[in-house]
Amino acid sequence: MNEKILVIHGPCLNLLGVREPQVYGRTTLAEIDAALREEGARLGLEVECLQSNHEGVIVDAILAGRGSAAGLIINAAAYTHYSIAIREAISASGLPAVEVHLSNIYAREEFRHKSVIAPVVRGQICGLGPDGYVLALRWLARYLSQN
Ligand code: DQA
Repeated sequence: MNEKILVIHGPCLNLLGVREPQVYGRTTLAEIDAALREEGARLGLEVECLQSNHEGVIVDAILAGRGSAAGLIINAAAYTHYSIAIREAISASGLPAVEVHLSNIYAREEFRHKSVIAPVVRGQICGLGPDGYVLALRWLARYLSQN
């Protein structure tokens, strides 16, 4: 059976494509998820995507991934900047995780410069738009094949 990669999108990312397109672009979340599934199939990985506007739902999904997934890609959106609960869920899951942001959070408002989850992920990709997710998936595929 293929290994599974859990992809989690946080609050407001369901509106991608129409939400502040000058910042986040015109690609929709459905298009990002489809590209990830396609790349996953190429890499021999199953990709399961979840979007939620609720912190507890995200925490539950990460913890459920502990037994069922091999890796995690997460764009926690606004929660990135203050959710200790999501940070601790990532740690508790033990999953190799990659943090992704569409925009370059370091080139924006100061409150976005701090990611409370950055210390518990393997790495962070930001500012590369939707490509960041696919790059994260490729890295996880390589990591999992070597570990
Ligand atoms: C974001 C950046 C966050 O600061 C913001 O709250 C988002 C999206 C990004 O993908 O660039 O909702 O995570």
